[in-house]
Order: sequence, then structure tokens, then C-alpha cells
Amino acid sequence: VIKRLLSTSQKLNVTSNVTVIGGGLMGAGIAQVAAQAGQNVTLVDVNSDVLKKSEERITSSLMRVAKKLHKTNSSDVEAYVNRARSRLSTSTDPVEAVKRSDLVIEAIVENLDVKRKLFKDLDVAAPSHTLFASNTSSLSIKDIAQDVKRKDKFGGLHFFNPVPVMKLLEVIKTDETSPETVKAFEEWGKSIGKVTVICKDTLGFIVNRLLVPYMSEAVRMYERGDASFQDIDTAMKLGAGYPMGPFELSDFTGHDTGLYIQQIFHKKFPNDPLFKPIATVKKMVDEGKLGVKSGEGFYKYN
Ligand code: CAA
Ligand code: NAD
Repeated sequence: VIKRLLSTSQKLNVTSNVTVIGGGLMGAGIAQVAAQAGQNVTLVDVNSDVLKKSEERITSSLMRVAKKLHKTNSSDVEAYVNRARSRLSTSTDPVEAVKRSDLVIEAIVENLDVKRKLFKDLDVAAPSHTLFASNTSSLSIKDIAQDVKRKDKFGGLHFFNPVPVMKLLEVIKTDETSPETVKAFEEWGKSIGKVTVICKDTLGFIVNRLLVPYMSEAVRMYERGDASFQDIDTAMKLGAGYPMGPFELSDFTGHDTGLYIQQIFHKKFPNDPLFKPIATVKKMVDEGKLGVKSGEGFYKYN
């Protein structure tokens, strides 16, 4: 699929071996959509229990996709799921996994030092043609790429949760990302069925630069006692047409990730009241209430 996408003039030998590093909420979704689109995918996480859970989530999500495509034809549904699953393997060793990779997408914890160290190691191990992308929500791509030599082949590929459903893919370019790499990212995004938009390497890119202040203001409104969180959710769904209210959405995103994002925004703009970290969110994270993934956030989940 991918080979066809890259014209010879681009001289990028990108084929269809994709490595996704970080097997959590986002990494599993990214691996799934790439495997669905016919690419060979290796999903990597340092934690093998995470990988087992992710494989289960991927299979059940593939079933939902397959049932939509093939309605009641159960043998076609099964064949679709098996085909995609057969293209997906897992590993706990990032360095080994990138050795035959054409594209590496990182979706590990939202921590600059950890991401930077990972890419430094991968830069040595991966073939020279391999493109590198981060799925960071709030960190600067340039900062993540600091210790990497292939800066022309490094950019952002920012997906949205749930990855199999959300159509958007933000392609982020730094000053050093080459036009060929941007083009390859756009083409790759299209090949997996996403609509791409391009953004410079600015804080929060497009969506999160607008969404994070909105979600933070919702929690501040709740902290002031202006309204219950349930009523704020109802108001935004029925009054503004959002599919989820801000509290449902923050439970869905994960409050640990949400807190990292708030802290990164605050560090960048320390004097902006919109980005002041929020006590309620910090308390929830300290109590292990991470949202849907831990079974409780603002709401409780089975
Ligand atoms: N895998 C496959 N299919 C899925 C799925 C999954 N994980 N989750 C939902 N679907 C499908 C369902 O099968 C269903 O398909 P049909 O309509 O064809 O039957 C469809 O999606 C709708 O799902 P549901 O009926 O279960 O539920 P819903 O209508 O409430 O939609 C939702 C669920 C798509 C999550 C919707 O509530 C929504 O869009 N929420 C907002 C999500 C959002 O804003 N995400 C972005 C967050 S910000 C971010 O991600 C960036 C960051 O850096 C933090
Ligand atoms: P998550 O906590 O669900 O998953 C992160 C995974 O990375 C964990 O399973 C962890 O074991 C693994 N990991 C940590 N360090 C690692 C390393 N060095 N090597 C390999 N694996 C490692 O987090 P998530 O919600 O999937 O977020 C991942 C990234 O995607 C973050 O950068 C986040 O900002 C971004 N993102 C999140 C969302 C969202 O809605 N949650 C949306 C878009 C982007």
C-alpha cells in the first residue's frame, strides 16, 4: 500500500513495515488502523501485560469495524479480523523492533525526557530511510527530536481517541522536517483512511490548543460550584452539539495524560490563567482515578 504512495521523485524508500511504540490507549488504536489498512505492524510496549490487554482491545475493536463492513456475514467478519490480526505482532524490545521498520510512531508516556531517550536509541538502530513520528499531545516535536540525527525525517503524527473512529490526523512539521517527509506522512495518513491537516510545531497543535483550555475551564467551573459536572456535560452535549461533555471526554482521555498535558501547557505559558494546573485533576490522579482505563474518574465504569 505504502510503496505505491511514494513517488520516485521523493526518493523515500518507505514501504509498509510500521512500528508503533507504546501499547496503551493510543498505540493500540494506531497499530489497529495500520494493520486494517494492510500494513505489517509491530506494537511495542515495555510492559507485556499491557500488550496482552491491547491485543484483546484490538480484536474487539476490529470486530466492531468488521461487523459494520460485513453486516451479518459472519465468515467475512471473521476473515477480516483474522487478516488484520495476522499483520500485527508484538514486542517488548523497541530497539530490536525498529530494525526493519519504515515508519516508527511513538505513543509512549507524555514525558519529554523519556521520549527523547527512546528516539536517541532508535536513531542508532533503525535503517537510515526510516521515518520517525511522535503522537505527543502537547510536547514540542523539535524538543523530542533533539538527540536524533535524522531531523529531516522526524515530525508529528497526532491521532485522536478512539483512533479507529476519529477521522482526523494532524501532521506536524518542525523547521527541519523535510517537505518529502511531510508529504509521505500525509500520503500514509490517507492510506489508513484518515483526513490529514498540517500544523507547525506549536503548543497543542490545532485541536489541543483549543480543546485543552475549554476542558480546563469546565473543571474550574465545577470547582467554583457554578454547576454539577453532570449538568456541564449535558449542557455541552445538548447546547453545543459535542458528542461527549468535557468530563466524559477527560475520563475517556485519561487524567494522568490530561495532567501531563496541563503541566506542559503551564510550563510554556506560566502566566496564562487558562493553563494553571487544576487541583481536582491532580487529586484524582493521586487517588488512581484515571478515568475509563482505571474504572473511575468523574464517573464510574464497569
Ligand atoms: N473501535 C471501533 N469502533 C468504535 C469504537 C472503537 N473503539 N468506539 C466506537 N466505535 C464505533 C461504534 O461501533 C459505532 O459505530 P456505528 O455508529 O456505525 O454503529 C460508532 O463508533 C459510535 O459508537 P457508539 O454508538 O458506541 O458511541 P457514541 O455514538 O457515543 O460514539 C465516540 C462514541 C465516537 C467516542 C463519541 O462519543 C465521540 O466522538 N466522542 C468524542 C471523542 C473525542 O473528542 N476525541 C478526541 C479527544 S482529544 C484527543 O484524542 C487528542 C489528545 O491529544 C488528548
Ligand atoms: P497510555 O498510558 O495508555 O499508554 C502509554 C504506554 O506507553 C504504556 O502502556 C506504557 O507502558 C508505555 N511506555 C512507557 N514508556 C515506554 C517506553 N520507553 N517504551 C515503550 N513503551 C513505553 O497513554 P496514551 O493515552 O496511549 O498516550 C500515549 C501518547 O499519546 C502520549 O504522548 C499522549 O499525550 C498521546 N495522546 C494521547 C491521547 C489520549 O486521548 N489519551 C490522544 C492523542 C495523543
